[in-house]
Amino acid sequence: MSYENITSEFSNGITTITINRPKKLNALNKATIQELHDAFDEANNDADTKVIIVTGSGEKAFVAGADISEFADFNVEEGGNLAAKGQALLFDFVEHLSTPVIAAVNGFALGGGLELAMACHFRVASTNARMGLPETSLGVIPGYGGTQRLPQLVGKGRAMEMVMTAGMIDANQALHYGLVNHVVEQEELIEFCEKIASKIMRNSSVAIAEAIRAINANYEDGVNGFNVEIKAFGNCFGTEDFKEGTTAFLEKRKADFPGG
Ligand code: COA
Repeated sequence: MSYENITSEFSNGITTITINRPKKLNALNKATIQELHDAFDEANNDADTKVIIVTGSGEKAFVAGADISEFADFNVEEGGNLAAKGQALLFDFVEHLSTPVIAAVNGFALGGGLELAMACHFRVASTNARMGLPETSLGVIPGYGGTQRLPQLVGKGRAMEMVMTAGMIDANQALHYGLVNHVVEQEELIEFCEKIASKIMRNSSVAIAEAIRAINANYEDGVNGFNVEIKAFGNCFGTEDFKEGTTAFLEKRKADFPGG
C-alpha cells in the first residue's frame, strides 16, 4: 500500500512505521490517523511481521499532537466524534493488536503523540524526547485515551499534575516515572528497538499474542483479567508452538517456533 503521510517498511521480521509530516512536527491529521490504521492493520495481518516499531521522521518530533488546525472550529458534537473515531481507529486499535508494538519516541511526544506512544505496548525514548499532555493549555482535555492510559503508566498523582500543568517532562523524568522503559541516544534509538525486537522474535508469537490479550484485560471494565489469563494459558496448550517449546527444552536445544 502507498501512503502520503507515513512510510511502512519491512525488514528482518520488523515492520517500521514512520509518521512523515516533519514540517508539521508529524502532527496527526485525519488522513494520517487513517493511514496509520491501515498500516498497523496490514502489519498485524502479515505473518512475517513479528514486531512493529512506530516512530516519527526527522530529529525533532515523534508526534507533536493532534493537528490543531483541523479541530479549532469544532462544536460539542464534532469534538466528541473526533475523540470517539480516533480512539476506535487508532489508539484502542493499536493497544489490542496481537503483534507487539514498540514506540520509538524520537523527540516531542505531545498530546495525541504521547497518547499514541502510550497506546503502544511499550516505549523507548531518545535523550532529546519531551513528553506531555498540553491539552488543558488549549482549553480541552486529552481525548485519545490520555486521561486513562497516563495514570495506568505513571500513577494518578503524576498524571493529574502533568494534565493540570500541561507541562512537558524530559526523557529521564519519563524513565523515572515508568512512562518509557529505556532512554538511549537518538542515533541508537531504532537499532536499540530492533535489538529488543530480535529478543521478542525468539519467542512464540502465539504465546505473545495471548499474553498481550491477558495483560490488556487488566485494564478493561467488567473483565476479570485472571479468568482471561486462565483461558489464554489453556489456549497455549493447543498450539504447535507449545509442543515445540516444551520439546526443545526437554531435548536441550533452541526452540524453532512454527508460529501456530
Ligand atoms: N497541530 C498542528 N500543527 C502543529 C502542531 C499541532 N499539534 N504542532 C506543531 N505544529 C506545526 C506548527 O504550527 C508549525 O507549522 P508552521 O511552520 O506552518 O507554522 C510547525 O509545526 C513547527 O512547529 P513550531 O511551533 O514552529 O515549532 P517549535 O519548535 O517552535 O515548537 C512545539 C515545538 C512542539 C513546542 C510546538 O509546535 C507546540 O507547542 N505544538 C503544539 C503541541 C500541542 O499542543 N499538542 C497537543 C495538541 S491537542
